[in-house]
Amino acid sequence: MTDLATIKQALQARGQSHLLRFWDELPQPQQEALLRQLAAIDFDLLDALIDKCLKGKQAVFIGGQLVPPQVLPARPADRSGAKEYQQARRRGTELLKAGKVAAFVVAGGQGTRLGHQGPKGCFEATPVAHKPLFQVFAEQIRAASNRSGKSIPWYVLTSPDNHVPTRAFFRRNHHFGLNADDVMLFPQGTVPAIGFDGKLLLTSKGSLADSPNGHGGSLPALQQSGALDDMAERGVELISYFQVDNPLVRCIDQLFLGLHDLRDAEMSAKAVPKREAMEKLGNFCVVDGKVTVIEYSDMPKELARATSENGRLRFSVGSIAVHVLSRSFVQRLTKGRRCDLPLHRAEKTVPYVNPAGKTVKPARPNAVKLEMFIFDAMALTDKTLILQTERNEEFSPVKNARGIDSPLTALRDQVRRAAAWLEAAGVAVPRDAEGQVAAAIEISPLFADSAEELARKIDPNLTITSGQQFYLGSRGQLGGTQ
Ligand code: UTP
Repeated sequence: MTDLATIKQALQARGQSHLLRFWDELPQPQQEALLRQLAAIDFDLLDALIDKCLKGKQAVFIGGQLVPPQVLPARPADRSGAKEYQQARRRGTELLKAGKVAAFVVAGGQGTRLGHQGPKGCFEATPVAHKPLFQVFAEQIRAASNRSGKSIPWYVLTSPDNHVPTRAFFRRNHHFGLNADDVMLFPQGTVPAIGFDGKLLLTSKGSLADSPNGHGGSLPALQQSGALDDMAERGVELISYFQVDNPLVRCIDQLFLGLHDLRDAEMSAKAVPKREAMEKLGNFCVVDGKVTVIEYSDMPKELARATSENGRLRFSVGSIAVHVLSRSFVQRLTKGRRCDLPLHRAEKTVPYVNPAGKTVKPARPNAVKLEMFIFDAMALTDKTLILQTERNEEFSPVKNARGIDSPLTALRDQVRRAAAWLEAAGVAVPRDAEGQVAAAIEISPLFADSAEELARKIDPNLTITSGQQFYLGSRGQLGGTQ
């Protein structure tokens, strides 16, 4: 580890010596921890960041020409499309059978908007069995492994803050029935918060204010943790990437994997039609020939609202943060431990310790937080693919404590999807006067993780009564209670 004298020198040269102001008061373990935090800082990079992101105040530069991207439809539009999708499904199945697919969930975020204590993946998100999000994904991965007869390794990105509790949660729950050797957890990197005056902040006398470096930080973390090497050893070629907050996500999708492979893509993305021009989703665009996602907050309003001759939005699809990445692409991006994703700045309110040693909780933003975004990797390759999908089937994130994208909307959407699958299979689902589903319904992915699989397995004469808590478990047992 770098010694104190070297760190002192580096801090002094950059006007950051205040970070060691309380050094002499700290017990040795805290001194060591602070030294570790400071030693992890890439000071040259920090100088550049302070210049670019703080003094320049430039959020995102949208230069060049912006046009809508090509998007593959959720359902094939014609016969040749139907043939391609059929082929892609088969290809996806073959890839799974050959053990060439890994699942990758990013769970290193702070989840401040939800406000749940502990890692977000431990949040109980399902309507009847109250399964934590991690279990929802684990069951899908188990189901897909069972179908292909080949285990699917699962990589879980954590943060330095939530790594230990996340690991403990997996252990306590026996990895939700997955083989422990096939589940690998690793923390992502962090970036210090930069005060508006260019000074780094202390959250306590012995600890630097920092935060995870964004979901884009998952790519260097895959490399630095050894996960990419592990994948190579296992013969994994494709990484199925998703976020921890979406209980409707399809973690493993044969069609998506197969299209990515058949079309020789290096990074693919799923998209849904935006509900309205200003919806808080990243907008898929092509900038100077490169597919890019522009965050809703960075998208010029007139472009977000622009319509074509047919009256439809020009930039009509948004990102649901589900990707397939080729391992070789991630390896190329992160070679030499560098990763050239841009850093995005967000102004945040960060509590800090003042020179008198007192904690100050500012009322207004006082610092800049920098994050890498996974979707920026799309602009680093010409080989991309965007597949449109149905929101009802695949997207209902738990972001906020209340209102839209909250636990309540996610519960409602899980019940709606389960009801739609049952009705498509010929089962009568009770509905109220407004047509809303009048029972809580949950289907374990281990019983069926698509409408088609459910239709093959379910008895259409099944009865679900109004107000029932109806759970279809792994062996099709009914865990229903009145
Ligand atoms: P969000 O953008 O919703 O951020 O993350 P968040 O930190 O979870 O929540 P807020 O903004 O504090 O309320 C989207 C996904 O990216 C992951 C999150 O865990 C979630 O799965 N993520 C985000 C990371 O893995 N690391 C990060 O640094 C940021």
